[in-house]
Amino acid sequence: MGGTIAGLQVNGGGQSYLAGLVPIETLSKQIKCKLPIKNIQLSNIDSCDMTEALLSQLGQKMVEALHDPHIVGIVITHGTDTMEETALFLELVCGYLAKTVGKKVIITGAMLPADHPEADGPDNLNKAVALVEDKGAPSGIFGVMGGEVFQARSMAKRHTSSLEAFISGDAVNLDLGGQAKDGSQVSEDLPIPPIDKWQRVEIITNHIGAKSDLIARYQTLGVQGIVLAGTGGGTVHHDLNAGLEAFMKDGGALVRSSRVGLGRIPSQLSNGRLSASMGAGDLNPPKARIALQLALFASLDAKANALSWQEIFARIVGLPSFR
Ligand code: SIN
Repeated sequence: MGGTIAGLQVNGGGQSYLAGLVPIETLSKQIKCKLPIKNIQLSNIDSCDMTEALLSQLGQKMVEALHDPHIVGIVITHGTDTMEETALFLELVCGYLAKTVGKKVIITGAMLPADHPEADGPDNLNKAVALVEDKGAPSGIFGVMGGEVFQARSMAKRHTSSLEAFISGDAVNLDLGGQAKDGSQVSEDLPIPPIDKWQRVEIITNHIGAKSDLIARYQTLGVQGIVLAGTGGGTVHHDLNAGLEAFMKDGGALVRSSRVGLGRIPSQLSNGRLSASMGAGDLNPPKARIALQLALFASLDAKANALSWQEIFARIVGLPSFR
């Protein structure tokens, strides 16, 4: 997909570089592996430019590859800036399939460009491929960064420049046995929205003096959902609260997450604000945004057994993190 792992320095010295320049055929020459490698260059971009359309394409490719009997596993190279969003997307649209067919999908990247003398990309890439080859390791969707393996859903970038930039967020540990609590027969993987069918969801941050006047503007732009990057445990300023209540009254979908970045969000706030919204559980705001987009799309999808977006979102929040 691109990223710093495929980046090149601008003036040497590693201080500045451009992401997404080295083709995957060149990067994959660094891999020490007995299995033949098939390279696919879906994009070669700085991941700050990732789009929902690219997610749709990547998701479809993963589903095809997971069904392909000649492919034993998949490694995705990706920029680190939005890696956690893509990782969660993959977990939700093909995590169950990966487990079912007994394959691994590993997303990896680097903090230093490919031509840096201490480039971390080759090690991460080799560790990811070794994990795919390891028959004893569980199947599913994972991330490899800083030489560590993460569950896709819980990985999060928490440092702008450290080689150990990623941490593992709070893990959920509910054993739903792969079934919705109400026993409905919805597929465990959510449908992948076609390129032009993604719902528009924005993130709004609570802060000192937060105002609600932006919300009406968002409605005129066709925003169907909002993720609140709330303060603390997902709290909201009374002024912003008024705008968000009006948004929900008009049919808008609201999820409460927190700008803190770690920890769980309660299902209700103790001051009773935004009581019709959903708590994001362990999902930080950018991940909650992807989850809400998928839940909104699935709720409109006739094949998804006509569950509401709230029911689907609740299942996402309650999914075992390591299924
Ligand atoms: C990017 O996210 O594409 C640039 C930054 C990085 O990969 O570390």
